[in-house]
Amino acid sequence: MKILFSCLLLFLITDMLYAQPKWPRLTYRDDPATTIAMAWSGTPGTVYYDTIDHGTNFNQYAQSKTVDRTTTHKAYNHHFVRLTNLTPAKVYYFVIQYNVSATSARYSFQTLSDDPNQPMSFISGGDSRKALNFLGLGDPACWGNGCRETRQDLNRIVKKIRPDFVAFTGDYIRNFDVRFIVDSEEDWEDWFDDWMLATGPDNRLIPIIHALGNHEDAADLDLLFDVSNTDIYYATNFGGNLFRFYTLNSEPADVCADVIQKNWLINDLQQHSTPSNTPYWKIVQFHQPMIPHAEYAARTDMIDCWASEFEQYGVRLVCESHTHVMKTTYPVAYDATATTSYNGLVRKDTTGAVFIGDGSWGAPPRDAYPPIPNVTRDVEKTSGFFFVNVNQSRIQIQGIVPYADSIANIVQQLDDIQGTPLAAGTPLWRVGNGSQSFIIPNYSTITAVNKIAKQEKRATLMPNPATDIVTLQFKEMPTEAVTIEIYDARGKKCRSYANVQEQYFRLDVSTLCSGVNFINIVSKDDVESHKLIIVR
Ligand SMILES: [Fe+2]
Repeated sequence: MKILFSCLLLFLITDMLYAQPKWPRLTYRDDPATTIAMAWSGTPGTVYYDTIDHGTNFNQYAQSKTVDRTTTHKAYNHHFVRLTNLTPAKVYYFVIQYNVSATSARYSFQTLSDDPNQPMSFISGGDSRKALNFLGLGDPACWGNGCRETRQDLNRIVKKIRPDFVAFTGDYIRNFDVRFIVDSEEDWEDWFDDWMLATGPDNRLIPIIHALGNHEDAADLDLLFDVSNTDIYYATNFGGNLFRFYTLNSEPADVCADVIQKNWLINDLQQHSTPSNTPYWKIVQFHQPMIPHAEYAARTDMIDCWASEFEQYGVRLVCESHTHVMKTTYPVAYDATATTSYNGLVRKDTTGAVFIGDGSWGAPPRDAYPPIPNVTRDVEKTSGFFFVNVNQSRIQIQGIVPYADSIANIVQQLDDIQGTPLAAGTPLWRVGNGSQSFIIPNYSTITAVNKIAKQEKRATLMPNPATDIVTLQFKEMPTEAVTIEIYDARGKKCRSYANVQEQYFRLDVSTLCSGVNFINIVSKDDVESHKLIIVR
């Protein structure tokens, strides 16, 4: 007995010291051109990284970073390392060194370009939870090979087509059901195991931007993935000003009553709709759909309190989830005067947003209920997700469906070119009444380019990057007082100075977060925005 106990103890200690870090994964907390947030579970360690591949020889890597944060959640420890000041559009290689000399496998990721001329592609999808079947009650049978197997197949497709990132619209696992409470620890283990199937054959990791669903808690996304905002709403620019990507939290029962989120959203949309600071595109994702097609009623609170803002500030693509179908709409926007509408939403080709969804990354697909709304372009009961390719003049959308035996035909992508078109052989869904691809044209591209090109900045920031003091230097003495506002990368206002009328205005930035911040000069006619990098 003593020997058995000793062996068991030895095994546990050995496992603790030598077990490989589990489930390496990536997300963005900040500018995806210059930062990455890494996570893994189990064994603690140090990340060694470089733009040169040194294999598993950790001491040859030029840079290293110790753990910034550790959490304990769902039966594991999770370790987070936040890398900053990275070079845009570069492949980085890294290992996790643990227990003096042991290292993980060598992994890689690619920082995104900050040049809006470079296209970008991402996958939008959600609802990867397993089905519930209990004494004949619960979800209908899963589609294809079964819920978990379909999730795995879709992850294998991510691996093959190698998008620049994944935008995940929630419902990762099933942690609660009205019939009984389910312990979700094993569900999360399975989810992480399955997500590893999206890792490239060269150990390339694909970052995820996380949205909150109703089957997990905000704490799960914070403690498992190190998301940048514990209330799960945030926004980040991609490709410089190619597009600004918003993640919203649709879990409050009434988003109109969630005034903090709504004010943040409107403020951020305003800040990114000025002549000198307008991205080519604004894209939004959230979990519960404004325009559902199965099981649930439309969220009229979201239509009332978000839809008009989407049109006013030029949101042209909305990614939804939750009802387990594949759907696309025409460009739609709110119109209170319309005599025929879908809860106030009507088709508006040049100013509306296209809604895609609704979360079918393995969760049991549902029958679309009749009648199909007249704003709907297409809907089908099937599993899948969307491939979205963005350049300055258009967004191209293609639906992907894991038809049986089709994954082997997809050509494995191995290049490091951002915005690569969809891999040959990818099985496509008919996204629009028979068509396998549709385009959202950018009706405002020429205006946006001209405005950005014509606008000459009235001030500069010195130095930039800065550490503690930065001077806002106007080319000429302002003829009227302006307001100086400082925003963090998520669009949260950190500080404001009213009635500034000095040619050289000193700002103490020593208490601001390192990374990307924005300094806005607000006058009565314009808002001029400057990106400020803070390094420490
Ligand atoms: Fe859901």
